[in-house]
Amino acid sequence: MTKNIKLLIVAGARPNFMKVAPIIKAIALFNEEQRSGGAVVEYRLVHTGQHYDANMSDVFFRDLGIPAPDINLEIGGGSHAVQTANVMLRLEPVCVKEKPDWIVVVGDVNSTVACTLVGVKMGIKVAHVEAGLRSNDRTMPEEINRLVTDSIADLLLTPSADGDENLRREGVAESRISLVGNIMIDSLVANLPQSTQSPILKGLNLQPGAFVYVTLHRPSNVDYRESLSAIMAEFDSLGARFPVVFPMHPRTRKMLAEFGIPAGRQGNVRIIEPVGYHDSLHLTEHARFVLTDSGGLQEETTYFRTPCLTLRPNTERPVTVTLGSNKLTTLETLNGDIASVLSREPKFGTIPPLWDGQTAGRVLESILQRS
Ligand code: UD1
Repeated sequence: MTKNIKLLIVAGARPNFMKVAPIIKAIALFNEEQRSGGAVVEYRLVHTGQHYDANMSDVFFRDLGIPAPDINLEIGGGSHAVQTANVMLRLEPVCVKEKPDWIVVVGDVNSTVACTLVGVKMGIKVAHVEAGLRSNDRTMPEEINRLVTDSIADLLLTPSADGDENLRREGVAESRISLVGNIMIDSLVANLPQSTQSPILKGLNLQPGAFVYVTLHRPSNVDYRESLSAIMAEFDSLGARFPVVFPMHPRTRKMLAEFGIPAGRQGNVRIIEPVGYHDSLHLTEHARFVLTDSGGLQEETTYFRTPCLTLRPNTERPVTVTLGSNKLTTLETLNGDIASVLSREPKFGTIPPLWDGQTAGRVLESILQRS
């Protein structure tokens, strides 16, 4: 690299924040090493504002030590079209002003696809971190975001070999693919000293290894009255057997209110506000098992080797099932799956290759090689 390069790094929703934090740290480290007059990497951090509540956004900036965004597009909620269009409308003038060499997008949320579309059409190179994941389920909004992003972005940085295979199958040229590992695990590893100190178990009066950590927010589970009410009834019966801690996503809370479904009737299901990053890692490490429909938790449980039951018919992260501690479940098979989890050792599975806490360095290297 002979001249400075400039990146526009985009984060929009909760699961993005732990993916941009390590990239920003890697840039600082790179620039530190270049102090003797070499070219440096400049960056601007853009928050699209897709997630805006203090407990969905600010707490992650604090916990992860992410600097305040340089630019906040403040798009807020709305339908998919409204969110995507608003990000596009508001990002374009930022690109005109900042003239970045690259836009770096992460994950699979509406902000990811919107920024990719803007960048590519303006002739700005786009790097996608966490590329290549496929659930092969086009009813998931995230799957559409992944397909569109990966079909047009310039550099596809994958977390695991299945991602590379998916991309090759779709006809993507080898030169666009770079296997870098799982960026989420960089944040996890870097934050272990703080997560270990989390007071959340004490605050909720929970014993390590003796509670279930539940999260749930996928539209396919929570946006339909029948499925949401069946799930909540199942949690009530689970709560009769174990303490259950359920930090509730705003989407889930909104849908429960809309459907008039009572929640947590047994008293043993503790519905609380969304928790911060360190508290969530602590709950994941020490739960007897996790019951979730989140993508990130499938990966974090795999790292901690904590059993995970994923309430979905498919996963875009198959390595968490083949190597890790994850298993897909349904309401019909849940009781049997819980029994089989409880009958085996409390920790199992192996950590996939390149989930080693060093992915951000490889992300930066891949971008610099192509600059
Ligand atoms: C989004 C992502 C999903 C990710 C999830 C994690 C898309 C398509 N989906 O889904 O992949 O797993 O984030 O959280 O991008 N809301 C608040 N406060 C907030 C954020 C949202 O009240 O800080 C409300 C919104 O107004 C909306 C609902 O929660 O009513 C859902 O938010 P939205 O951003 O549309 O999608 P998520 O379900 O969070």
